[in-house]
Amino acid sequence: MTLEHDEEISNPSSNRPFEDVLATHISRRKVLVGGAAAAAMTFVGSSTVEAHGRRGGGKRNPKIDFAPCPNPGGPNPTISDDYQYDVIIPWGSPLQPGGPDIAGGRPASEAEALQQIGIGHDGMHFFPIRHRNDLGFLCINHEFGFTSHVLGKPAPENLEDVRIMQAVHGNSVVKLRRGKSKWIHGKWENGKWVDGYWKPGKWKAVGSKKNRRITPHTPVEFDGPAAGHPLLDNPAGNAPAGTLNNCANGHTPWGTYITCEENFNGYFGSTEGDAFVQTDRQARYGLSANGFGYNWHPYDERFDLSNPGYVNESNRFGWIVEYDPTKPNKKPVKHTAMGRFKHEGCAVTVGKGGRVVGYMGDDERFDYMYKFVSAENWWWMRYNGRSPFSEGTLYVARFDDDGTGQWLALTMDNPVLAAEFADQGELLMFARRAADLLGATPMDRPEWTSVAPNGDVYVTLTNNTRRTEPNAANPQAPNPDGHIIRLKDKRRHTGTSFKWEIFVLASETRGTDYEFTDPDGIWADPDGRVFIQTDGGQPSGNNQMLVANSKTGEIRRLFAGVTGDEITGIAYSSDRRTMFINTQHPGNGDPAATNFPVPGAGGAAVPRDSTFVITRKDGGIIGS
Ligand code: FEO
Ligand code: CA
Ligand code: CA
Ligand code: CA
Repeated sequence: MTLEHDEEISNPSSNRPFEDVLATHISRRKVLVGGAAAAAMTFVGSSTVEAHGRRGGGKRNPKIDFAPCPNPGGPNPTISDDYQYDVIIPWGSPLQPGGPDIAGGRPASEAEALQQIGIGHDGMHFFPIRHRNDLGFLCINHEFGFTSHVLGKPAPENLEDVRIMQAVHGNSVVKLRRGKSKWIHGKWENGKWVDGYWKPGKWKAVGSKKNRRITPHTPVEFDGPAAGHPLLDNPAGNAPAGTLNNCANGHTPWGTYITCEENFNGYFGSTEGDAFVQTDRQARYGLSANGFGYNWHPYDERFDLSNPGYVNESNRFGWIVEYDPTKPNKKPVKHTAMGRFKHEGCAVTVGKGGRVVGYMGDDERFDYMYKFVSAENWWWMRYNGRSPFSEGTLYVARFDDDGTGQWLALTMDNPVLAAEFADQGELLMFARRAADLLGATPMDRPEWTSVAPNGDVYVTLTNNTRRTEPNAANPQAPNPDGHIIRLKDKRRHTGTSFKWEIFVLASETRGTDYEFTDPDGIWADPDGRVFIQTDGGQPSGNNQMLVANSKTGEIRRLFAGVTGDEITGIAYSSDRRTMFINTQHPGNGDPAATNFPVPGAGGAAVPRDSTFVITRKDGGIIGS
């Protein structure tokens, strides 16, 4: 989500701003790259690419030769002429066949909303069934919905309203199936021969006992160092339940889904104004009397910061959450070993010794980038009944001027941290404070991460409108456009140092036919393509998805969304001939802006967050 709500900067620490580092680093780039072509200039990485002795993200030069998509803006999506899209699982469509559908309206009750796909489509992953490319479970995050969008009024007026709002949050697990492909015969059309072609069958949601909703009320459990911690207990004695503001995602080598809790603070408020008790550590998470204005707290005491019975409820959010799409009766698990912050996403890879590594952004201005490394080989840990995410080391990143960086371990072995925290559980619960103390580098809102097969790690820095210091390479301070960093870890993802470079500065794409700002979703595919999704006011048109060639720096737009939306979420079939992406908050929920997915604008149909199924018209790999 775009952080329109937050007027505060919750990191008051004086760690050296990333901007200083960037300035030093980029001035070096200018000397080395010199008179490179404009397109290559976009890829500031050129300098350090030489230094690192490597190029690109895949084995081959990735082919990107689709017709670039224009970005005209307006109430409907646009796609490259070589591609086509369908719309599936809009908000409020039935989770099971025959279930209730909001059909251009809004959910009538909590009971109805719980039988429907939620709103705020964001991170997702497709889990094929028996390796099939036409059948599988989609796990999808429902990050948030504007109250006006969901309820048709500015604020909830009673507990049932709050329950409806809560019911549209969380996750959906839904089985998807592609229909049979069909041969379309060639024909003469307007005096021109049109070749025959295989038309791929349409994807749709189908019924399954495993289809489920996970909401702010679903029972959950904790594992890792903070499990059972008194700071996760409430005097009210309520059992841990629910997940909130599920932004981006990850998936594991053992077939489970990871959903990440981002702006949880926005749902809490105080019925006694600023009188609620808050420590400095808690203040780092931006809790406030009115939150983001959801106004749940007057009706649901769990979300009332001034209710002494629920004094630790907010500590139960801001975690990495894992669940198995094929085990609907198992509780989702919150992994405290991976730290508590405003988790954007978690790109998981397997590193040296079979240890599992997760790269994670904390999306707030001047907050940090983290990684988690499991204690041992993931297969061995699971064989012994231990979760690989329950034991390991959490690190925070410090980016240095010379294109290198350090991963700083957030453990009680560090005397600075041992002096501040009572135990490892408390340290992880207030990971932001721990990271402040170690001098981590404050970043420009780290959003998604992605790990390419060659080990390159990409992280999007969406923007930072509060930067005050200008920097040499990007004179726009504040930095409203954002950029993307590429880093390479030592010791196959498990080391404590890394090299980094700027992959692209969005400001340098302005005026090109692939101009974009506010990078957010990112996925490095196995061929060296990098898919970039945007969330923010674009220089022209709507939010969009572009494809970059990680070797040459070429960028093309593949898709542009709907007025007022953001494009987010990337899932794909194993053969990569089907891709799923989302429009979130089309028209910001206003039917006067768009009635998507009903064509046109200005009608009564309430716009619906939806998933696009993208295929190449010739059946090719997405992005080619
Ligand atoms: Fe949910 Fe940082 O976007
Ligand atoms: Ca979002
Ligand atoms: Ca964003
Ligand atoms: Ca995002």
